[in-house]
Amino acid sequence: MQLCALVDLERGFIGRDVYFDEAVYRAELERVFAKCWLVVGHESQLAAPNDFFTQYMGEDPVLVTRDVAGQIRVFLNSCTHRGMKICREEAGNARAFECPYHGWTFDTSGRLAAVPHELAAYGANFQRESRALIEAPKVESCAGFIFASWDTDVVPLRTYLGDLRWYLELMAARQLGRLEVLPGQQRYKVAGNWKVAAENFAGDNYHTTHTHASAIITGALPPILGTGPDHTVSFPYGHGTQLIPDPGTKFSAELAWAKTLGPEAVEYLEALRFKLVRVGTEAQSELFGLGVSNIFPHFSFNDFSVFHASTLIWWHPRGANAMEVWQSLTYDSEAPRALREYVLELPTGEQAVAGFFGQDDVENIEQVTAASRGVVSRRAPFDYTMGLGTPPRTDSRLPGQVYPSITEQNQRNFYSYWLSCMNGDAGRG
Ligand code: FES
Ligand code: FE
Repeated sequence: MQLCALVDLERGFIGRDVYFDEAVYRAELERVFAKCWLVVGHESQLAAPNDFFTQYMGEDPVLVTRDVAGQIRVFLNSCTHRGMKICREEAGNARAFECPYHGWTFDTSGRLAAVPHELAAYGANFQRESRALIEAPKVESCAGFIFASWDTDVVPLRTYLGDLRWYLELMAARQLGRLEVLPGQQRYKVAGNWKVAAENFAGDNYHTTHTHASAIITGALPPILGTGPDHTVSFPYGHGTQLIPDPGTKFSAELAWAKTLGPEAVEYLEALRFKLVRVGTEAQSELFGLGVSNIFPHFSFNDFSVFHASTLIWWHPRGANAMEVWQSLTYDSEAPRALREYVLELPTGEQAVAGFFGQDDVENIEQVTAASRGVVSRRAPFDYTMGLGTPPRTDSRLPGQVYPSITEQNQRNFYSYWLSCMNGDAGRG
């Protein structure tokens, strides 16, 4: 398949086979998901030694642990004997993982610690060392987010994230305690290609007022949205953010919201502002939410306000026209208790399985799929021409390439790096 012919970013058209062709899908599992840095979780999920959680990297199940020495490690969640999934829990604390099939037992550093009937079954020369769990060679954190890659030559994480790091560090700093991933996840299946969702979060602010009109009309929109000018910001390696507020323009809306919640909320907001002035740049001290973002390839998050839990979303690929969505909430570990209950309730009505935004978006993804998989429909490319040729604005306050609020720049940026990965010419360390 000639991918370069399908992805014509100079003219702004992308052939639909990018979303429907099984060979493209198989290739991207290898060239994107088994090569790039992928967000697997957050350090708050591994507070103590022997804490663990399970996750996916592409279609590969992984087990993420903090070993007894405190090191975070990422293993293929598949027994080195004959492939059984060794851990089927979402999360917990365990000294060892006993394979349900024949009982090989691995510790949290991946070592094969016990083998049933070892001497009788394998003799005296059995080497447990060579049968340790398969481990991701690259694991690093940024602002508490844990990234892993299967590629020993992947670019350094700092390079991969570039200026996006500034925004992630702000998100981590804008907590009185620390950003904490809360227990429990929503998981649901969507009949669509993972890229349709990821590119939407990277930059599709164009759909917000139309697709989500019912949320706006009924007042289900977070009160902080739509209260001032915002920006789309583009980063190398395919990452994108949208709805980044103009620094300094949202504090009055935050304060107004705080006043409706009571004196504890006002005090909390003031304490956060004081902290940001101490630890951040001037612009960081004036940003109380980061809008909607996608870290290439498939990890999205929204972050609207200090009075709104943030949502982390993984668009896990499950076939050319199938994905599994996993999403978690985060909040400040030191936020006042009364406030926590309020802010945790909000997202369930928004970007969630039974929320306005979640259902609206899933409907788009599934109907794009249904209306695009036919023989004739697959001949017509998707149109990504909006804002083509518009140069980025210089904005000394916001790192990254800054564009107008409504543009398809970030989608083109997403596919530009996707194409580099697929062609094997993406940057390597
Ligand atoms: Fe795990 Fe056999 S498959 S012990
Ligand atoms: Fe949406």
